[in-house]
Amino acid sequence: MEKTAISTHGVMEGGGSYNLHARIPAGGGNQALPYLETAARSCALPLGNGPIVIADYGSSQGKNSLAPMRSAVRCLRTRVGNGRPITVVHVDQHANDFNTLFDVLHSDPERYSVDDHNVFPSAIGRSFYENVFPGDHVSLGWCSYAAVWLSQVPALIPGHFIAHASTGEARTAFERQAADDWRRFLSLRARELHAGGRLVVVLPGLSDAGTSGFEPLFNAANGVLDELIDARLIGSHERERMVLGVYPRRRAQLLEPFNVERQFQSLSVEHCELFDLPDPAWAGYQRDGHIDGVVARHAAFFRAVFVPSLASAINDAERRRAFPDWVEPRLKRRLCEGLGPMHSFVQVMVLAK
Ligand SMILES: C[S@@+](CC[C@H](N)C(=O)[O-])C[C@H]1O[C@@H](n2cnc3c(N)ncnc32)[C@H](O)[C@@H]1O
Repeated sequence: MEKTAISTHGVMEGGGSYNLHARIPAGGGNQALPYLETAARSCALPLGNGPIVIADYGSSQGKNSLAPMRSAVRCLRTRVGNGRPITVVHVDQHANDFNTLFDVLHSDPERYSVDDHNVFPSAIGRSFYENVFPGDHVSLGWCSYAAVWLSQVPALIPGHFIAHASTGEARTAFERQAADDWRRFLSLRARELHAGGRLVVVLPGLSDAGTSGFEPLFNAANGVLDELIDARLIGSHERERMVLGVYPRRRAQLLEPFNVERQFQSLSVEHCELFDLPDPAWAGYQRDGHIDGVVARHAAFFRAVFVPSLASAINDAERRRAFPDWVEPRLKRRLCEGLGPMHSFVQVMVLAK
């Protein structure tokens, strides 16, 4: 496959949909909060009274950033008091739903600026595979469920859309892309952090057996794509190009750049921990027994996070717009037939410069 830059690949479903349906990443981010708080208490701060910069890389529509940013600001306040300005910069791809992000920053009751008038939110629409800030600018970085998205899709995957279903040359191409992108991401962030800064990276993890917990969901969705071909709603040439540029890395792959000198581009690893992540939709089902509820939440999660990227393989705008509504009900039906929890994992890394 010819490599194509896919600047809008990985963008979440707009209209605030991601904020409504992203409870799994919210749970993963919550697990990482103690690490972020420790980082906020220990990161070096710039001398003088100038603003302290917190960067939120891959913020999406912002709801899931509120709790981590609030915690980070609160911890910094215990060090510097209320008089010092703090700027929080949310970074995402230019095609992100920034309207919703700004609504959240302006009026969500849980916004971190509600009781702190010396904190200044802003946003940048640029890929984190480029320089986003000047050098030595950021004290504390946070990147949750975002660096799993690659800079490009390196290969087609016959019969599936997810890297872990790939074999042979396609698998090798994904592994290479994931390794290159991880090094690139770290190098860029190392440049942007000032000495003594911290970067907390939260990622979907893999079990020792190499499973992510999302396999039943992805396999059900893959079956839906076949149904859509049979129904002549999408063409097989479009389905072939439906590949997600996501690659959950194993712990060893995340640590690989640090193997030789225990440092990479002046970054060192303070923590690298894997946690089980319970499925909140399944927990709800166990309480109330409503199959429709758990299935709707799983399907809405898939739609909000992954369907826009799959839809980008459809050429004409009208069918591209209709595609999510074709996928969701069929996915619900399949999930009902193979009902089960999504027991995923979250990998938390803390890096120090
Ligand atoms: C699953 S959402 C995570 C949102 C939020 N951080 C959370 O924890 O819920 C992934 C976000 O990463 C963003 N993203 C993916 N690739 C990116 C890139 N190269 N540069 C900036 N943002 C990117 C997507 O646009 C999306 O908004």
